[in-house]
Amino acid sequence: MPVSPEEINLVIDAIKSYSPYDFSDYSIKSFTRRIEKALIDFRLDIDKLVTDIKENPEFVEKLVKGITVNTTELFRDPNVWQTLRYRVLNKFSSYRKINIWHAGSSTGQEVYSMLILLNEMGLLEKANVFATDINTDVLNKAKAGEYTYRFNLEYFDNFNKVIRENPFNFEDFEDIPYEKYFDIDQVKDVITVKDFLRKKPVWFKHDLVNEGNIFNTKFDLILCRNVLIYFNTDLQNHVINTFYKSLFRNGALMIGVHESIIGAIANNFNKSGLVYIKKD
Ligand SMILES: C[S@@+](CC[C@H](N)C(=O)[O-])C[C@H]1O[C@@H](n2cnc3c(N)ncnc32)[C@H](O)[C@@H]1O
Repeated sequence: MPVSPEEINLVIDAIKSYSPYDFSDYSIKSFTRRIEKALIDFRLDIDKLVTDIKENPEFVEKLVKGITVNTTELFRDPNVWQTLRYRVLNKFSSYRKINIWHAGSSTGQEVYSMLILLNEMGLLEKANVFATDINTDVLNKAKAGEYTYRFNLEYFDNFNKVIRENPFNFEDFEDIPYEKYFDIDQVKDVITVKDFLRKKPVWFKHDLVNEGNIFNTKFDLILCRNVLIYFNTDLQNHVINTFYKSLFRNGALMIGVHESIIGAIANNFNKSGLVYIKKD
């Protein structure tokens, strides 16, 4: 059922006044679609939705989980991972430690892609990896590292493109078995990430809207892919500024293939393809 801009404002105001969340600067179009979907999923009309937001904090938590879009994939956009491998991570080999933050990590596939790549490059031991999201359900899924097998068969195509094939020398094919990183149970239709990877990241809830760098450290690399598209320009700039302040000099920020940094804040970075390097 279509929801009017006035009704959307009532929802945003109620969430802002009665919970720690603030969706005022989310992209109105996608936020409206998610509220329309929530009305169907929770079988509510707009008045009852607003009342529930005001009276029931647990409902707000459920609603926030319904509002966020959590689509992700192992080695999503394989070319991006090749860029990371040969243009960013390769520079870290001389570092004593490597700090990486995945902001908006969803169910964890992006984080596990990173850990696999770091392991193949001999960098895993010295990496500190933080993975955050506003949605605790996806964080719990990420921690479990358990995914359906059949639904995610394309994971293995991506794995082949990034881990087995070297685009700079196609004869340099390494037959790395999937079982090095996953337990695969085709009967139960489950793939599970191996423990040595699952135990590596620090996962926690973090809201990019109203929390900055809470880590007591700066970062060599921040990934925030396919999150900024859900924000308006003001919020995008606010979040990019948080990342700018959180990066070491020459640290790298990676955003999604359909996202870009525009306006004055872009002058703080040197752009090299999809990678933004913090200027001196
Ligand atoms: C489409 S997923 C992207 C996952 C992964 N980065 C990727 O590119 O495959 C977007 C994620 O951003 C999270 N998110 C949305 N708003 C957020 C906020 N204010 N703070 C932190 N995470 C947020 C959502 O919960 C969701 O898991």
